[in-house]
Amino acid sequence: MSNPWWKNAVVYEIYCKSFADSNGDGIGDLKGVMEKLPMLKELGVTCIWFTPIYTSPQVDNGYDVADYRNIDPAYGTLEDFQNLLQMAHSMDMKVIMDVVVNHSSDEHVWFQESRKSKDNPYRNYYIWKPAKDGKEPNNWGSYFREENGSAWKYDEATGEYYFHQYAIKMPDLNWDCKELREEIYDMLNWWIDLGVDGFRLDVFTRFQKTPGFPDTTKKAGPLDRNGFVVDHDMCTNVEGIHEIIHELNRNVFGKRGVMTVGEGSGVTYENALPYVHPDREELNMVYHFQLAARVRTSLSADQFRDIQSKWAQVIANGGWAVQYLSNHDSARQVSCYGDATNYREESAMLLATLMHTTPGTPFVYQGEEIGMTNVKFDSIEDYNCCYTKGDYYSMIQKGATPEEAISTLAPRSRDNARTPYQWNGSEHAGFTTGKPWLKVNPAYEEINLEKDLQSEKSIFRYYQKLIAMRKEHPAITEGDLKFYLCEDRDIVLYTRTCEKETLLVVANMSSKPATLTLPEELRGEKFKRILTNCAKNAPALDGRTQLQPWESEVYVKA
Ligand code: NOJ
Ligand code: CA
Repeated sequence: MSNPWWKNAVVYEIYCKSFADSNGDGIGDLKGVMEKLPMLKELGVTCIWFTPIYTSPQVDNGYDVADYRNIDPAYGTLEDFQNLLQMAHSMDMKVIMDVVVNHSSDEHVWFQESRKSKDNPYRNYYIWKPAKDGKEPNNWGSYFREENGSAWKYDEATGEYYFHQYAIKMPDLNWDCKELREEIYDMLNWWIDLGVDGFRLDVFTRFQKTPGFPDTTKKAGPLDRNGFVVDHDMCTNVEGIHEIIHELNRNVFGKRGVMTVGEGSGVTYENALPYVHPDREELNMVYHFQLAARVRTSLSADQFRDIQSKWAQVIANGGWAVQYLSNHDSARQVSCYGDATNYREESAMLLATLMHTTPGTPFVYQGEEIGMTNVKFDSIEDYNCCYTKGDYYSMIQKGATPEEAISTLAPRSRDNARTPYQWNGSEHAGFTTGKPWLKVNPAYEEINLEKDLQSEKSIFRYYQKLIAMRKEHPAITEGDLKFYLCEDRDIVLYTRTCEKETLLVVANMSSKPATLTLPEELRGEKFKRILTNCAKNAPALDGRTQLQPWESEVYVKA
């Protein structure tokens, strides 16, 4: 049987707000994306994932949805979206939508109704509880740590509290409510009728909460406030979650044959398979946070080998996964895991090599294909990310100075990923003719698409080659993964073997030159190089091979 399309896909994540602004209001939009589709096609992308572009008050940049069936006017209209969809399809690119149904905006009509009275037909769409001993129903903290830090907000109209894992303006939906579930199936089927090819499910492991909402006994962490404790376990992978996802599959995904990728908070190589094994009829794939995470700021070759070999088992056992190092919630991969100061291009290319040659579907986040880097703003006013702000005020409350707080939070702020795309060296990096909604990274004069394309070390061109390779070499999608340990632990060496071929990947994950001593097993084999990120020095692969800092190569067994 041939592979489903999503196993061969290369997905490109668009954070619309920061991608391309067509009308000078400082906010990226759908017409802007349309203008850039040829560039994505040139890159080789086969599928686009839109982070939420629905009508939203933008408390969390669209992850707070006020109308699931419309496009936010800042991005365009439903008609623009349909045109975009048609254009993408005519260019052989699929489009998947972000589905944010753990919570909605408090401006959604469901919540507006729900808060009105205890007997409103929509009351049960959300999670309401009376006070306990005159206080919040329990001691759970909200991730964005607004106000007193609690995950409960008192609502005067009915004198009860509603539950919100994220912002106060993002009340959690109640998945125990049958009518709510039916509304969601209808809404998703409506998008499929419109022509979308699949969905990315926002925080799907968090739909089911611990029954009874008991207090957590975990100790408060350094950023927790007023005794309200962030305890992810209370809402992650809770019993009952698999039934919810299976029902979604039965009523929507499987029934209509669309692609699904889940954002797997709390999904590990140990618990992933039930979510992604086809027999379970849940999701096609998940992305996890074991390799890349919002708070991870380094990645060693040892960690890479360890995590990849375990996730390869999930795939070998019939599941599937995403390969990625950055997205709109993380810092820039070349700043975290590469060497953005001395070997920006080389390390950006090396990291891409790893993502595009290990098992799973690679997801590219806008800007990584030109090696965009982290940014540091001087004032909290310049930041937009809800985590950065919440954590900042927690730190200030606990005695940190503004400088200390920003220095601690800047390297992991989600805004690192969200500064506008750097198209060229002109004002605002060519993103907008107006004032960008979030400041442009001052590095734009050096790092931008136009300049990259003229460079001998073009990262974009390297991505093109990597992506093209996927189409020619079945081992990239299908091959078994085998790691070899080298004397120099910074060298990552692995093969991908399928019936038709064996590929070999070698990468020096360090800013120092390294000597590769080829393992016994591989000596005597003939390998032909098909890709390198160090054109000038790249040697042939033999018993002892010198590798440049951040050098990466792909070979095929002759
Ligand atoms: C995960 C999304 O990727 C993130 O951006 C958002 O803040 C939370 N889910 C809440 O929707
Ligand atoms: Ca605009």
